[in-house]
Amino acid sequence: MTKDVFLTGITTTGTPHIGNYVGAIRPGIEASRDPAKENFYFLADFHALAKAEDPDRINRSTLEIAAAWMALGLDTDNAVFYRQSDIPEIPQLTWILTSMTAKGLMNRAHSYKAVVQANEDSGSKDPDKGINMALYSYPILMAADILMFRSTKVPVGRDQKQHVEMTRDIAQRFNHHYGNLLTIPESVIDDNTAVLPGLDGRKMSKSYDNTIPLFADEKRLRKLIMKIKTNSQEPGEPKDPDGSMLFQIYQAFATTEESAEIAKKYADGIAWGEMKQLLFEYINEQIKPAREEYLRLMDDPSIVEAELLRGAEKARKISVPYLNEIRHAVGIRTLR
Ligand code: TRP
Repeated sequence: MTKDVFLTGITTTGTPHIGNYVGAIRPGIEASRDPAKENFYFLADFHALAKAEDPDRINRSTLEIAAAWMALGLDTDNAVFYRQSDIPEIPQLTWILTSMTAKGLMNRAHSYKAVVQANEDSGSKDPDKGINMALYSYPILMAADILMFRSTKVPVGRDQKQHVEMTRDIAQRFNHHYGNLLTIPESVIDDNTAVLPGLDGRKMSKSYDNTIPLFADEKRLRKLIMKIKTNSQEPGEPKDPDGSMLFQIYQAFATTEESAEIAKKYADGIAWGEMKQLLFEYINEQIKPAREEYLRLMDDPSIVEAELLRGAEKARKISVPYLNEIRHAVGIRTLR
């Protein structure tokens, strides 16, 4: 049996928040240390472009996300850590796959359909309003990311599962046409990773603007935690940890034993203010060492840049010869 190849892509929009941390960064970093796994992690900056982000924000977000993963201990010796746009073979493969992708398949993408639906709901005359071709064919670029490194396992959130299925469809069609050159991947969805509520109670997400940035300074972190919604129960009143956002967040950071202790404090009627202070101190302690390293890297982006270029070099040892094989298979060859 050959080793499984895991591949994780992170779109470079926004600043890492504690929801990203417990949902993706923490499990991803743990996996990066496992010598039994071959691991690829990359910053999907071409995907960010599809969202027509402001150039400075894309650049800033790329630095923030890379610095965050590095500061938290991503094992960049055991894993390959790179930036998508440093691998010119990926856009080439994207075009080759585009020629193997049925337009009808893209019509079915949830991500695209959601925007069409929103346009229709808002009574717009143009169902494709605000939709560029990159948003429409986003799954093909993602397929190229995955197939370029012969990934077998792709850890994703539920919202990305369909994209991995599309990757399989595209790869199968390619293989049928040109011979078995591409590895068929599968998605890995971890139902145990925590989904954190944001400040307003909805899922913590950049798009709801309800996040707690992972490396907010102490003052800001404290202030944001103080803003988390609670009910109007008085100090001394026994409280139910189920349905308490403060408890959910605490749980995502703590061990089972620690959470059980806090549940007891709830039963004993801990005041919300006290619980907020306790949560702040707990998270702050955990984040502090990484925050210092993060600030050091943010202060000297050349360290991050060098690490990404080193990763790109490792990645291209694979992508350059592999793309050559693929090009040859489709008839893009030296003339003779
Ligand atoms: N589309 C993914 C997201 O928004 C990010 C991504 C891009 C990705 N390319 C990928 C994830 C390849 C896994 C594999 O979350």
